[in-house]
Amino acid sequence: MDLTTVAQEKLTALNHRHLLGLVDYSAEEIGLILETARHFRDVLDRRIRRVPTLRGVTVVNLFFEASTRTRISFELAEKRLSADTVNFSASGSSVSKGETLKDTARNIEAMKIDLVVIRHKSPGAAHFLTRCVESVVINAGDGAHEHPTQALLDLLTMSDLFASFEGLNVCILGDIAHSRVARSNIFGLRALGANVTLCGPRTMMPVGIEDLGVRVTHRLDEALEGCDVAMALRIQLERQTDGPALFPSLREYHERFGIRLAHLEQHPDLVVMHPGPVNRGVELASEVVDHERAVILDQVTNGVAVRMAVLYLLAGLMAPGEEAAG
Ligand code: CP
Repeated sequence: MDLTTVAQEKLTALNHRHLLGLVDYSAEEIGLILETARHFRDVLDRRIRRVPTLRGVTVVNLFFEASTRTRISFELAEKRLSADTVNFSASGSSVSKGETLKDTARNIEAMKIDLVVIRHKSPGAAHFLTRCVESVVINAGDGAHEHPTQALLDLLTMSDLFASFEGLNVCILGDIAHSRVARSNIFGLRALGANVTLCGPRTMMPVGIEDLGVRVTHRLDEALEGCDVAMALRIQLERQTDGPALFPSLREYHERFGIRLAHLEQHPDLVVMHPGPVNRGVELASEVVDHERAVILDQVTNGVAVRMAVLYLLAGLMAPGEEAAG
């Protein structure tokens, strides 16, 4: 089946110009992205892992915050689609001379670009960018707000393992309050019909989070009961700068909320996920990270295909005459 035809037939279903978050993406739009990603995964399995789909399209990766997986997989996705890519890091740029995000973005856009991928420590940075530039904006993680492509790759990974999202029981564990990954996954999973349980210390659980249609517990044993997927989140010490510590020690956190081999033995069908980077021995015991039921590296592999799909579908929504040729 011809990939270009398949995606273009359904292009109208993607009802957004940007990908800022999953909060307002419908189940059908998420389904289209996942379906397109599966086609691109076939491309990535070929000997020559490159298609000419985004030839002539220029993508700038604006990274104001550290990243390994997201940054490399966006760059690989752009290269696999034959786009021209430029990488920007705040360190070593004129940001260190006081240039603002708005001016940085507008100056880069003046060099004629089509899409901007942005990671920034401030929630709302991607939304803000849409008001500064004409280019399509893709949020690669903005503070504790959203990380939509992470959730999409998580959803793709789950869809490989389970027949349906309807009734799937997913538990998200840990530092919910500081987690953009949790928020995007909650929106995506709820849109697709999955049941979401959040588990973590009270100090890391936002008040009123139940309003998003999730169940909350502070007991790991309760959270894992009947659970299909346990998604452990990284403890984000770098975002816990204000006020007192949110838990007594990393050792105590691991004892109360870390997944250990005993949990895998107790729940023989449980699948373990983690967006990375993992603090071994904190969110997950080291043996769990390397366990066959931990699909952490599958998540990373799926990240390239998902980002190819997002770039392709959003580039396709440019004004007539500007769209990427197949
Ligand atoms: N999961 C994730 O966003 O990882 P990076 O911070 O390495 O991009």
